[in-house]
Amino acid sequence: MSYAFLNKKFIPLEDAKVGIMTHALHYGTAVFEGIRGNWNGEKKQIYIFRLKEHYERLAEGSALLQMKLPYSVDELCKITVDMVKKSKFKEDIYIRPLSYKSTQAMGVRLHNLENDFLVFAIPWGRYIDKDACRCCISSWRRPADNVIPPSAKITGLYINNALTKSEAISRGYDEGIMLSQDGFVSEGSGENIFVVKNGKIFTPTTKDSILKGITRDTIMTLASNELGINVIEKKIGLVELYDSDECFLTGTAAHLTPVTEIENKKIGTGQPGEITGKLQKLYFDVIKGKNEKYIDWCTPVY
Ligand SMILES: Cc1ncc(COP(=O)(O)O)c(C=O)c1O
Repeated sequence: MSYAFLNKKFIPLEDAKVGIMTHALHYGTAVFEGIRGNWNGEKKQIYIFRLKEHYERLAEGSALLQMKLPYSVDELCKITVDMVKKSKFKEDIYIRPLSYKSTQAMGVRLHNLENDFLVFAIPWGRYIDKDACRCCISSWRRPADNVIPPSAKITGLYINNALTKSEAISRGYDEGIMLSQDGFVSEGSGENIFVVKNGKIFTPTTKDSILKGITRDTIMTLASNELGINVIEKKIGLVELYDSDECFLTGTAAHLTPVTEIENKKIGTGQPGEITGKLQKLYFDVIKGKNEKYIDWCTPVY
């Protein structure tokens, strides 16, 4: 059974409810995280990947909305592990923490409101249910830092992402790639993006309206340590994207998903590329706790 942690208690997920006047429900005044627990069948273990980093990002995003988390990062990690343990999962799971304005009150503002924290976990397999995906260029651009900071997972901001995803699906694609306000490649609706050209790996900079992904950081670390390739952060134009030899998306939900087509144009050979494949294999071993060198990134539940 799935459990939730709400109002400082563990309760069955189906009983976890909030009031209809909750501020966050009306004005998007909440910050969320997406964390994965990965089942390792051999070790009969769920490893939660980079748990601490996710809660550190949640704390930073919460501060932007004038919320102080009611628990320390270490306490949040413990609550999460205890909750997953209670649910007795034996499969891949997705953990959704939310730091939100909990006051039952109307009025657009950030101040003079209470905040609270909740978290739940559910079994969840692949987010993009394809071995390789086809992307469009979204007609929706990523907001600049001075509109809503894209560096925080603010729930209200995700309307921009939802518009992108639904536009992509309605046009027959799997995912949409957004551009920044100045027309450079930014990110997917729930993923960071990388391109490979002549053996070099590039990704947009943190100034290109991206979320600083934890998977992005993982891939940059693995590329450098294991393949000897230092990922170059730079502004990427549309032509460079179409012209790349390989392209892939990264995110906690989407893992590492190769992109083989953008706007009906093949990327490279139209098949997942060699460097993409190597990084994907490394990444899946690491998140499932199968690579001892990176075991510190994995928090065991059982
Ligand atoms: C807009 C956006 N970009 C990138 C990512 C990837 O971030 P991470 O790798 O930390 O999950 C996500 C998912 O969290 C996202 O929602």
